[in-house]
Amino acid sequence: MTKNISIIALDGPAASGKSTLGRTLADSLGYLFFDTGIMYRAITWIALQHDMDLRDETAITELAQNAQIDIRPSSKDDGRACDVVIGEKDVTWDMRGDDVDANVSVVSAYAGVRKALSEHQRRIGLRGRVVMVGRDIGTVVLPEADLKIYLDASAEERAKRRYEEIIARGENADYDEILKKVIERDRIDSTRAVAPLRPADDAVIIDSDKMDAAQVFNHVLELCK
Ligand code: DC
Repeated sequence: MTKNISIIALDGPAASGKSTLGRTLADSLGYLFFDTGIMYRAITWIALQHDMDLRDETAITELAQNAQIDIRPSSKDDGRACDVVIGEKDVTWDMRGDDVDANVSVVSAYAGVRKALSEHQRRIGLRGRVVMVGRDIGTVVLPEADLKIYLDASAEERAKRRYEEIIARGENADYDEILKKVIERDRIDSTRAVAPLRPADDAVIIDSDKMDAAQVFNHVLELCK
């Protein structure tokens, strides 16, 4: 069924459901699931830990060129897709914190950071049998992908999903605040000079506003045929 579809690029804005879709799809095809956002988050996390000035593009770029980020098979059944380890510290959830959320768009707008990280992503992606998730996979990292999906949803719907996720974890959340952050990240991600968030010309655009995760998955599985 999936003979000719070996490299799948899955792009879209924050909280559009890309990770859930990518993971389920990779599992069902027996492919590697690679969420490239992890790499941008890891660099941001290290920079914050070391109190680096995030406006210092040269220093942040050097960090991206030299950082040792390890991705290992998931060691815990707590919703993670893999372990992200930096210097033997498991930072899988730390990287999803507010601090990183608020600063990762700045770090990922730097051309040198993107170049350093995209080279690793491309090398891994070209091996095939991969579902790679990000913002620029179909446009920059793997333009030769066999299938390109751009998963979209309105900012309101994405904020609502984030809000419900947080509430389900038993934590407090403010919908308006989340919506504001989603809109701000969209703005930075889609207006940056290098590799802005946009669908590739040959991407299949899926608007998931009125679809649940299972419907999106089935639709994409059909496209793999
Ligand atoms: O998908 P995410 O929310 O974990 O991504 C974190 C940040 O990294 C987000 O602000 C956009 C950026 N990113 C990117 O610029 N290019 C990618 N291929 C993946 C993520």
